[in-house]
Amino acid sequence: MVKILIAYDTKYGNTEKVAKLIAEGISSTEGNEVIVKNVKEVKLKKEDSYELIVIGSPNHFGRHIGSVKKFINKLPKSQLKLKAYAVFDTCITPDFEKAVKAMERQISETMPNLIKVSPGLSIKVEGIGASKGPIVDEDLPKCKEFGIKLIQEYKSL
Ligand SMILES: Cc1cc2nc3c(=O)[nH]c(=O)nc-3n(C[C@H](O)[C@H](O)[C@H](O)COP(=O)(O)O)c2cc1C
Repeated sequence: MVKILIAYDTKYGNTEKVAKLIAEGISSTEGNEVIVKNVKEVKLKKEDSYELIVIGSPNHFGRHIGSVKKFINKLPKSQLKLKAYAVFDTCITPDFEKAVKAMERQISETMPNLIKVSPGLSIKVEGIGASKGPIVDEDLPKCKEFGIKLIQEYKSL
């Protein structure tokens, strides 16, 4: 059994929705356990047995938000069994994948031994500027598919 943590933060709820849909995808596969939590509620302990962590953030000014940055910085000391990661963001179109890339960069700097199990997922929300969304319809199915793909990729490592 693979134990997976999906940790996210959100301002308007869209990134949380993506996190829950990714979890649905993972839960549709056999014999894996997935926990979904806001980064502010995650208290990782050394004895936790998460092997795969999936981290999500809204794109604010082309980056992930402060709470998610802090969470990533604290990871190396807290998780002994952690082997792999993947990230996701929500954004309006012009900054597609920018927060994903920033998170991947930060993780590869703080935890060079963690394996990136899949390229990050960037989900578009409707609107312009500090948009409240909602998620564009055509991106909704991508979330669940991403969850399923993550497990397949992790198991083939
Ligand atoms: C302060 C602020 C800055 C933002 N900056 C960007 C940005 O630089 N690029 C972008 O694509 N979206 C930007 N957005 C839009 C967010 O990506 C969008 O609000 C977010 O995906 C919604 O996710 P949430 O519901 O989880 O908060 C910004 C939003 C806020 C509130």
